Amino acid sequence: MALWSGRFTENVSEFTQRFGASLPVDKQLYAQDIAGSKAHARMLGAQGVISQEDVDAIVAGLDRIKARIDAGEFEFDINDEDIHMSVEKALIADIGEAGARLHTGRSRNDQVITDTRLFAKQRATDLMQANVALRQVLVDQAKANIDVLLPGYTHMQHAQPVFLAHHLLAYAHMFARDFKRLAAAREAADVNPLGSAALAGTTYPLDRRMTAEELGFSGVTANSLDAVSDRDFLLDLDYAATVSCVHLSRLAEEIVLWSTSEFGFITLSDAFSTGSSIMPQKKNPDFAELIRGKAGRVVGDLVALLVTLKSLPLAYNKDLQEDKEGVIDAARTLEDCYTCMTGMLQTMTVNADAMRAQVAKGYLGATDVADYLAKKGLPFRRAHEIVGHLVLLCDQRGCGLEDLSLEDFKAESDLFEADITEALDLEAIADARTTEGGTSREAIRVQLAQVEQALATDRDK
Ligand code: ARG
Repeated sequence: MALWSGRFTENVSEFTQRFGASLPVDKQLYAQDIAGSKAHARMLGAQGVISQEDVDAIVAGLDRIKARIDAGEFEFDINDEDIHMSVEKALIADIGEAGARLHTGRSRNDQVITDTRLFAKQRATDLMQANVALRQVLVDQAKANIDVLLPGYTHMQHAQPVFLAHHLLAYAHMFARDFKRLAAAREAADVNPLGSAALAGTTYPLDRRMTAEELGFSGVTANSLDAVSDRDFLLDLDYAATVSCVHLSRLAEEIVLWSTSEFGFITLSDAFSTGSSIMPQKKNPDFAELIRGKAGRVVGDLVALLVTLKSLPLAYNKDLQEDKEGVIDAARTLEDCYTCMTGMLQTMTVNADAMRAQVAKGYLGATDVADYLAKKGLPFRRAHEIVGHLVLLCDQRGCGLEDLSLEDFKAESDLFEADITEALDLEAIADARTTEGGTSREAIRVQLAQVEQALATDRDK
């Protein structure tokens, strides 16, 4: 019989027992559950609600249970419904009476959300560390490839030349924003709901600040009804994970594209590629594809929790038991994706020549030819049209802008001089974009310093 079975004369069926149990999921929160119980017991003792001997027996008993679970020697029984019941039942079996006093002034409703908040804080911290490792690799590759030029794209068409470092740092910035979202999610989790009891608080003289301090929470929740019903902080973590997975999927897509024979911009290491069971020549970017695909599940985790919470009345409802599986999955998935992407970027080979060869195609200097005329006083719109004609001419001849003669240029505008060839140098074109945040190597070095500075401070958060 369950620990709450006093008013029941009949058991639920084996099926409904399994259906109602959260133990298969929440046993992952055993360390948090035991830490919360120890803090609660110590506080009950300090407040004179239970004796010091009981506190000592409870704490020692909980430590023994934790050691057994750590060692894989604890047999979980599905009839215990959840981790709270499992631990409490084992404690009572171990130390008797004192164990049966632990749940004084507490409900599983404040217990579960205490555990979940502790868990969310820990997982957010893990993810922040994995996020920093990924950003470091992006910085390393940016530094190593500061002189590598590739076509920048809009609409997946060649647009203007950019340096690879600039392209990689764009992702470093995305992941830096993700870091902030993860940190905000951790902060949202960082309040102590313990002492809210089932929904209304309790008549015992609980010191909620004491348990907050012992558990490392920065403060206490202000409303007991809200405390046991609030899952916003899990939405925050899910959302932070989702955005980062979406960012990873964009990078993964570029990796897939860049490793095709059509692009050939990068070669993935064998350690991050797979073969085909039928086609002996194949080397597939499976892991980049998987990262791209896993984003879908994490988006689903966020949506699932949003829908679970929609229209849910106060205070605790069993629906809330559905909160943990998705967020555990989202955190694990993002952590794995970070780790995988970090290794993949670290070990890929950049094919600078293939990138440079593509820069020569698609009239990447066209904007700069228009700027050349505009800087000589021609209105930009007019200059744009003239260069459009020159591009059309190149299209007809099957050549590049750099292959046109000075006469060809002059036929369109007599503002063109011999120095137009210099205006078509693609490295110079990129290096001329010196605006803050632009692609010139000068601006990239400034950007790199900022990114590295942010990384250094984030490492300690
Ligand atoms: N297993 C439950 C959950 O995960 C714990 C809280 C149960 N509370 C209750 N009154 N049934 O949400």
